[in-house]
Amino acid sequence: MLSKTKKEARRKWAINRAVMESDSLRPTLSRKKSRKKNPWFELLVKGFEIAIRFSPLYQRGIKNAKTTMVNHVELVFDSLPDEFDGYSILHMTDLHLDFMPEIAQKICEQIQSVKADLCVMTGDYANLTSSYQNILDPLEKIVSAVQCRDGVFATLGNHDTHKMVAPFEQMGIRLLINETCDIRRGSSRIFITGLDDPHYYYTREAKKALGASTPGFKIALVHTPALYDAARDHGYDLYLTGHTHGGQICLPKGIPLILHLDRGRKYYRGKWNYRGMTGYTGQGVGAVGIPLRYNTQSEITLFTLHVKTPATG
Ligand SMILES: [Fe+2]
Repeated sequence: MLSKTKKEARRKWAINRAVMESDSLRPTLSRKKSRKKNPWFELLVKGFEIAIRFSPLYQRGIKNAKTTMVNHVELVFDSLPDEFDGYSILHMTDLHLDFMPEIAQKICEQIQSVKADLCVMTGDYANLTSSYQNILDPLEKIVSAVQCRDGVFATLGNHDTHKMVAPFEQMGIRLLINETCDIRRGSSRIFITGLDDPHYYYTREAKKALGASTPGFKIALVHTPALYDAARDHGYDLYLTGHTHGGQICLPKGIPLILHLDRGRKYYRGKWNYRGMTGYTGQGVGAVGIPLRYNTQSEITLFTLHVKTPATG
């Protein structure tokens, strides 16, 4: 249950988000940019899809995009409270459930045997914000398949809409929109801060929320890596993000052709470190644009957090 102050902040956020969603410009950290996609790029992507449609390469790309897996990642921290040693977090990002609907069933199959302490999702549940209702049923099935003692926390992405908030909360998802909450084990706590998407919908409230969190072990959930430096400056230990799909269509060795990132481009995939803060950019579960993946893997990530033990001897 939200406090009166948080309810009022949410109300103001929803009004502002609705205005931004109807605008042709997108506010970024530096300036407003056009939201229109480059028609030449769109043409190139479509042309590529048509050119390879009847080749084995196309079938391989489809198979790659529709095959998801749980990737196990161990993370070690000096600052993690002892009570959280072994704490596990299931991370899913960029599901785009209306673009490739088959992926919902694949996700359920993958996570049904996974037991974790917490599930976090970092945005882009839909492809088209205008038909967001289409993702509610499959998302509810996924949430029902999650087995996490501390529940499901989520943030919104640039393909998402403020209209998702009420139905998401009805299905038991705890949305964090420039908000922080804590998780307790014994006498210790860790803090989770979730921000609204900074790629299309950046506001100063995002950085304010990072700054408002309490000292302690802190995790930031943000749709894109763009706020990596602000999170580090505010003492965050772990930054979980997505948006890039790991490049989705990559050259061999995972070299991306396009990333849709204004900043933090070198943090486009996997584990990274920025001045002592650990980050992880999930490769995304779903796909957008074309239902293909090359040299990237659809990924659900299961993190296990460990306390760094001092070296002996
Ligand atoms: Fe995104």
